[in-house]
Amino acid sequence: MSATRLATLDLREMKRKKEKITMITAYDYPTAELVDEAGVETILVGDSLGMVVLGYADTLSVTLDEMIHHGKAVVRGSKRAFVIMDMPFLTYQVNSEEALRNAGRVIQQTGAQGVKLEGGIEIAEAVRKITQAGIPLVGHLGLTPQSAGQLGGFKVQGRDVQAARKMIEDALVLEEAGAFMLVLECVPWQLAQVITQKLSIPVIGIGAGKYCDGQVLVYHDVMGLYTGKRPKFVQQFADARREMLRGVNSYLEAVRKVAFPGEEHTFTMPAEVLAQITS
Ligand code: KIV
Repeated sequence: MSATRLATLDLREMKRKKEKITMITAYDYPTAELVDEAGVETILVGDSLGMVVLGYADTLSVTLDEMIHHGKAVVRGSKRAFVIMDMPFLTYQVNSEEALRNAGRVIQQTGAQGVKLEGGIEIAEAVRKITQAGIPLVGHLGLTPQSAGQLGGFKVQGRDVQAARKMIEDALVLEEAGAFMLVLECVPWQLAQVITQKLSIPVIGIGAGKYCDGQVLVYHDVMGLYTGKRPKFVQQFADARREMLRGVNSYLEAVRKVAFPGEEHTFTMPAEVLAQITS
């Protein structure tokens, strides 16, 4: 019997029981298969895709078609995890009708379970429209990479009274508009704790301290596969790049020394056939 996927109610129940919710990004079939086998509850097909997989400088260049292409592979590779798709820049900000059309396309074409949008009160109408159409939606506040330019760069958010109050207000608005989960990125742990306590929906932190209902990290950061700048809030849990490099170097060396392919990798043909084609 195939495993059934986790649902929004399972995640909400985890918050109620104070069980930590795990989330990690994935962008392809084998990674989705691996993190699903490890037992992660939620997989995020983040628009960090742009930097860690596609080699762009930021998330702004990522298109809806690119997200859908990668999202389909992640859904095919996973069985149990709840798969969340990032809505890329300018696919939900123009107006709520366009936001719904694009979110609907993502869900229909990938088979993912939910979408994630960055922003607070300014996207509340789009959140309402999408969730009223029955699409599970995750909010994203704090350091929102799609608007990093306006935020003054990749900096901690919500440190002063005004900014902290605004973030609490935004979080409550998103919950009221129908979001079933919220990601908080790069905010003081005390503010993340206040927001986590105020909301009844699960709050997932990245650079937001340990009092959130769960944590998310980018797979390539966890595994040591990304060679770009690593933020303070990242912990590398494995050195997969070193092991992969070792594997590739061993292969190249074996080919150069004719140690590969061996007899066990080689096909043969009857001697009489060979005699006929060489005579
Ligand atoms: O794009 C992404 O990977 C994200 C996470 C960092 C939360 O939004």
